[in-house]
Amino acid sequence: MKLFLLTLFSAAVLLSACDVPSQLINYPEMGSARFKNYYAQCSACHAPPRPTAHKASEWPSVIARMQEHRIENRMLPMAAPEMIAVRDYLMQHAAKPGN
Ligand code: HEC
Repeated sequence: MKLFLLTLFSAAVLLSACDVPSQLINYPEMGSARFKNYYAQCSACHAPPRPTAHKASEWPSVIARMQEHRIENRMLPMAAPEMIAVRDYLMQHAAKPGN
């Protein structure tokens, strides 16, 4: 019985983690809902970039360009709440000025 419960528990853990592939490493806050949203919004066309790829001041214009790419690809643009969560995540962990 104990083993059965343990197996059930591991299966639940595996299932709940399956929306973000396990080979993705080294992103900030990887276990968080905010990261999952980021992954969902920014991995359809390329690997999601590290937040340090840009400074905080640069991310909003990159995100605006990605909205255009979505439209060009006949995808719906990100809705405002998801876009704001992506922007906050990227800006909070962005490259520090001068880097
Ligand atoms: C619909 C497809 C698509 C989606 C979804 C998408 N991208 Fe892009 N991304 C592209 C294309 C095409 C390029 C290359 C052309 C360019 O740089 O605009 C690119 C390039 C980039 C680059 C490298 C160029 C640069 O300015 O540094 C970054 C960073 C980037 N994307 C971030 C993001 C982020 C953040 C998201 C989520 C909000 C995202 N992308 C979602 C299509 C997409």
